[in-house]
Amino acid sequence: MDPNKRPETMERITTPELAKAFIDEQVEAIKAQVGDKKVLLALSGGVDSSVVAALLIKAIGDQLVCVHVNHGLLRKDEPEMVIKVFKEELGANLIYVDAVDRFLDKLAGVDDPEQKRKIIGKEFIEVFADEARKLEGIEFLGQGTIYPDITESKGVKAHHNVGGLPEDLKFELVEPVKLLYKDEVRVVGKALGLPDKMVYRQPFPGPGLGVRCVGAITRDRLDALREADAIVRAHIGTLPEVPWQYFAVVPDIKSTGIKDDARYMGWPVVIRAINSVDATSAQSIEIPWSMLCAMRDEILEKVPGVNRVLWDFTDKPVSTIEWE
Ligand code: XMP
Repeated sequence: MDPNKRPETMERITTPELAKAFIDEQVEAIKAQVGDKKVLLALSGGVDSSVVAALLIKAIGDQLVCVHVNHGLLRKDEPEMVIKVFKEELGANLIYVDAVDRFLDKLAGVDDPEQKRKIIGKEFIEVFADEARKLEGIEFLGQGTIYPDITESKGVKAHHNVGGLPEDLKFELVEPVKLLYKDEVRVVGKALGLPDKMVYRQPFPGPGLGVRCVGAITRDRLDALREADAIVRAHIGTLPEVPWQYFAVVPDIKSTGIKDDARYMGWPVVIRAINSVDATSAQSIEIPWSMLCAMRDEILEKVPGVNRVLWDFTDKPVSTIEWE
């Protein structure tokens, strides 16, 4: 039997009871695979790696070493949430790596989107490998591979592919959710007691805010983006039907504004909210005018450097979901 093929008889995990049975089964399987050895896991705070971390903690406790890399392109409060949930609440053996300067220094002046993605991906592997080399006795690598990663991209996880580790770091993989679909991973995450904020998190690209701080990233514009994005998420997240993806973008352009009777140049914040099933096409959603106005006012009041707010209501195609 191909271990990377989901058996046709495998029941879809839709209820807490089915999730519990899956968790019990995986805890036993992980224990049998790992024994008393150590497992390393890159914990981004995304749904898949978080669920795998929680499963591994349940199975092997502090034989799991989690590494959370802050590349400076995470959303507001994200690293804090990962530390709070995993270190403080679940007692994980968690290494927090502040690599903000390392990433932003490498990205300085780079405005080509593909080049930006390459730098972020390569730097991520290097930072993770540096941490892995400091540790002793690691034999396994945990990965949040899910079934669509196998069926759609030959097992390579696009956004945190630590499968590309250098030659001297060869680990056996532990991939407990590799036969699950995303909705099942969420049901399992709920049953493991992870907070809704983590379990129902909207898709977030691996290069993070890097692809929404359009053009060459500067720290001041990235800070403005992070603040504006938090405001956009707080408002749109209260809609009765929360859209699939909703966020802010700050392009590298300035336009004229007026403050204290003087003209000055500032950035625009672009609001984007779309619905999609699988990201191949996407529809812009209707946002109530009162909510648009409330976001505009809060952004203009609280985010330094911004003097204009725009609403991107373009579908995919023609536009892609991200701006880069
Ligand atoms: P686009 O912009 O191509 O995005 O319509 C489709 C979906 O993919 C996400 N996305 C990425 N995810 N690494 C990722 O892990 C990336 O480089 C990347 N670029 C786009 C995007 O957020 C959307 O959900």
